[in-house]
Amino acid sequence: MIEVRIELADRSYPVLIGAGARHRLVEVLPGGVERVAVVTQSSIGATVDVDVPSRTFVIEQGEQAKSLATVEELCREFSQMGLTRHDCVVAVGGGMVTDLAGFAAAIYHRGTPVVHVSTTLLGQVDAAIGGKTGANLPEGKNLVGAFWQPAAVLCDTELLVALPPREYRSGTGEMAKYHFLGDRVGMPDVALEDLPLDERVAYCVELKGRVVGADEREGGLRNILNYGHTLGHALEIAGGFDLRHGEAVAIGLHFAALLAEHLGRIDADRVEEHRRVLSFYELPQELPAGSDLDALVALMGRDKKAIGGLRFALDGPRGVEVVDVDASDVEAVLRAMADRSVAAEEEP
Ligand SMILES: NC(=O)c1ccc[n+]([C@@H]2O[C@H](COP(=O)([O-])OP(=O)(O)OC[C@H]3O[C@@H](n4cnc5c(N)ncnc54)[C@H](O)[C@@H]3O)[C@@H](O)[C@H]2O)c1
Ligand SMILES: [Zn+2]
Repeated sequence: MIEVRIELADRSYPVLIGAGARHRLVEVLPGGVERVAVVTQSSIGATVDVDVPSRTFVIEQGEQAKSLATVEELCREFSQMGLTRHDCVVAVGGGMVTDLAGFAAAIYHRGTPVVHVSTTLLGQVDAAIGGKTGANLPEGKNLVGAFWQPAAVLCDTELLVALPPREYRSGTGEMAKYHFLGDRVGMPDVALEDLPLDERVAYCVELKGRVVGADEREGGLRNILNYGHTLGHALEIAGGFDLRHGEAVAIGLHFAALLAEHLGRIDADRVEEHRRVLSFYELPQELPAGSDLDALVALMGRDKKAIGGLRFALDGPRGVEVVDVDASDVEAVLRAMADRSVAAEEEP
């Protein structure tokens, strides 16, 4: 079992990574807890054991259930079981469950501890780490939420074998971005591809932990975690492409590398390194056929992390950093990328 500590300004918490990590729950529950509310989904086979009375609440699948109505339902159920601020919520699931249960915990009795037992690859390297929780509104995804750091996180890599293959691949898209972010936070220079899965997950957790520790509330550095996400989000919103989040991010990473090369920030070898990592994970790299480039540029300009103009996390001599880019450069690189995708498709 690998233990990574996330160091925040005023406290720290453990993340345990490895096969069977879920069985360590009792050890990481806050002291004095008298009841536990477990939140999970029916498709998640994982059960957890606790040594105090507990109730399990099963939430629906899919983003439409990631709603304030579900949060209210959970809080009412917590109340009915007599949960107090001195007890604990335990989220067992992927990002959807940890986001929702984390948000319910953040507001229940003005803040009740939560432990995340993360069961998806995307959850383990991203959603369960860093304290962002939330729900969707009909107007958009993750528009309400709170920063609420967990008391501990358990990343049980044994559960990943049961993941539907596309969910696993979506997680690798998120993992791919971490291959390029280590420099900024002084991570040791390692060939991530050569590490066993649990060590690779631990590297991503440690890296995200360092970024979050330095910027808990997304004031600056945390934006580098958005690497590959500007085009990724635009592809997801433009829709109709049947892309999972991590797959869209993978295409976004390739685009970000090409844009950085176009701007003279990185050389062709570094672009090739991006392609090599994406191939290693068998992720898509090129724009989906039929992409409406004008629509993508318009959507990128609207990305909630862009404050005026087009903002990208881009690789460069000082590592990945957030830079403003002219729309004309973005369009030129997107167009060249689209031409390449078409050419690639026409090859026999
Ligand atoms: N808080 C953050 O910082 C953050 C970061 C990234 C994403 N997110 C959020 O995370 C969500 C996506 O998370 P996700 O990719 O983990 O998807 P998810 O939680 O929706 O899970 C995907 C599917 O896999 C199933 N599943 C989960 N674990 C399983 C297992 N071990 N075996 C079999 N099936 C299993 C789920 O029930 C679900 O049907 C989105 O709502 C997104 O907004 C949050
Ligand atoms: Zn992401």
